[in-house]
Amino acid sequence: MKNIFFNNFFEIIKPIENKYTNLLNIFKLNEKWKSEIFFELEIKKSYIKSILRYCPETNHFQEIINETLKKRFNDFEYTQLYPLLHLSNDKIEAGDFHYDQGGDQEVHTLWIAISDYNYKGLAVMPFHIKNKFFSKLIIKSGIAKVLSRNLSIRKGDTFLWPGSLIHAGNFNNSELPSIAMQMRIINKKYNIKYKKNKNYSEENEIKDFAYFHNLIYSILEISTENSSLEEKFKKLNYNIKNKKKIENNHVLSFALSILSQRLIFSKKFELPKPIFNESSFLMLDFASLALGSYNSISIKRIINYDNSLRSFLSKTFNFH
Ligand SMILES: [Fe+2]
Repeated sequence: MKNIFFNNFFEIIKPIENKYTNLLNIFKLNEKWKSEIFFELEIKKSYIKSILRYCPETNHFQEIINETLKKRFNDFEYTQLYPLLHLSNDKIEAGDFHYDQGGDQEVHTLWIAISDYNYKGLAVMPFHIKNKFFSKLIIKSGIAKVLSRNLSIRKGDTFLWPGSLIHAGNFNNSELPSIAMQMRIINKKYNIKYKKNKNYSEENEIKDFAYFHNLIYSILEISTENSSLEEKFKKLNYNIKNKKKIENNHVLSFALSILSQRLIFSKKFELPKPIFNESSFLMLDFASLALGSYNSISIKRIINYDNSLRSFLSKTFNFH
């Protein structure tokens, strides 16, 4: 297999690992994933992931990684680190085989284990091909499942792979949760700029969860009302604009967007959910925009659903 091992950052990740362990204890996420409480677990997971994306520990770690990457890449742009959190037995986190590269620009993925992995966390193909047609065929035919190798992972292990490499995150069948961080690296010549945020207030990072939690349930309530999506968006926007001041709006915004994403993914499983309809997902995305749009996929999901909402969104949030 092409060697994708990059480094081991065992020492440098310690502050993030401590933060993660603390958060797991506070939010009681050390237990096994259970379908009966899936929705509450997803709310907490989204929030923790978002804290870990923006907290000073991660920012500092990002700076160290960037220095290391400069030895490997000349001029590069990168995405803010994205936490991947798999609870023990977490049914909706095990991913399908895929490759990370979306467009034609060459990208790389850096993947760092922050916790121990008591299971083989990643499945990786032993070779990579750049032809997307064949890659899709390898995935669809099930060949990826047969040929891939499961990787043993130690805390701090860091892998770097090209965007064309087919891989999957494995099901966590161990007793403990696991967490990794990942980021994309792209050459500056492609002229892609990723939005990053370095502000963070630690003061209310736990307290703000109560607002986040309430907001989600008020979104569910509004989404069942008998009015148009635009009307529901307006009402939600009004509520968000009139909330108490929160320093870490970006933490909430990102958490809402990934919650929407996880819930969409969870549709393929039979899981107990509160009252939920199609507009609930879109309203989570809309709330993410109203809090500052820290995950651009949210806007795409709304516009893909109904392109006529584009003008309403651009009027409301002043974008073009
Ligand atoms: Fe991936």
